[in-house]
Amino acid sequence: MKKVLIAYASRTGKTQKMAEFIAEGIRISGHAADVKKISDFKKAEEIDNYDAYVFGCPTYHRDMTAGMKTFLFLAENLNLTGKMGGAFGSYTHSGESAPMIFDTMEFVYKMDMTDLGALSLKEAIIDTTDGKKACQDYGKSVGTKLPL
Ligand SMILES: Cc1cc2nc3c(=O)[nH]c(=O)nc-3n(C[C@H](O)[C@H](O)[C@H](O)COP(=O)(O)O)c2cc1C
Repeated sequence: MKKVLIAYASRTGKTQKMAEFIAEGIRISGHAADVKKISDFKKAEEIDNYDAYVFGCPTYHRDMTAGMKTFLFLAENLNLTGKMGGAFGSYTHSGESAPMIFDTMEFVYKMDMTDLGALSLKEAIIDTTDGKKACQDYGKSVGTKLPL
């Protein structure tokens, strides 16, 4: 069993809900998932020691939040090369945040990112059966690539 960190930012709880559903998918695929707010991390070492990483942030003002930018600079201090990764976020109309985070994980950290790309979900569908399934499937796409 491997250990996956799902670290997220969320102002009104939508991206947090996505994080919890993604964790369910990871657990269904046989692995452990920790779901934590990015504000819980103050030092790079606290992010270390996971086998895979899924980062999430909503889009505000066509951007990720300032807190997520700080968190990504913190994660830069780790060696994440080759580790499995994914990125997600809730939005209403433009949804830039998740693909931007996904790109940073792929091109800067050189992680092995899920074939599904970034998971951007409109906030209105997160609490539906389809929204929950999309998140669980996303978690499974990370989990099934990890050796048990
Ligand atoms: C001030 C403000 C600015 C926003 N800007 C964007 C935006 O540029 N693009 C977009 O797709 N959604 C935008 N949104 C919508 C949020 O991304 C959406 O409500 C999201 O579900 C919030 O997620 P959270 O509950 O995890 O914070 C904005 C919302 C607010 C309140």
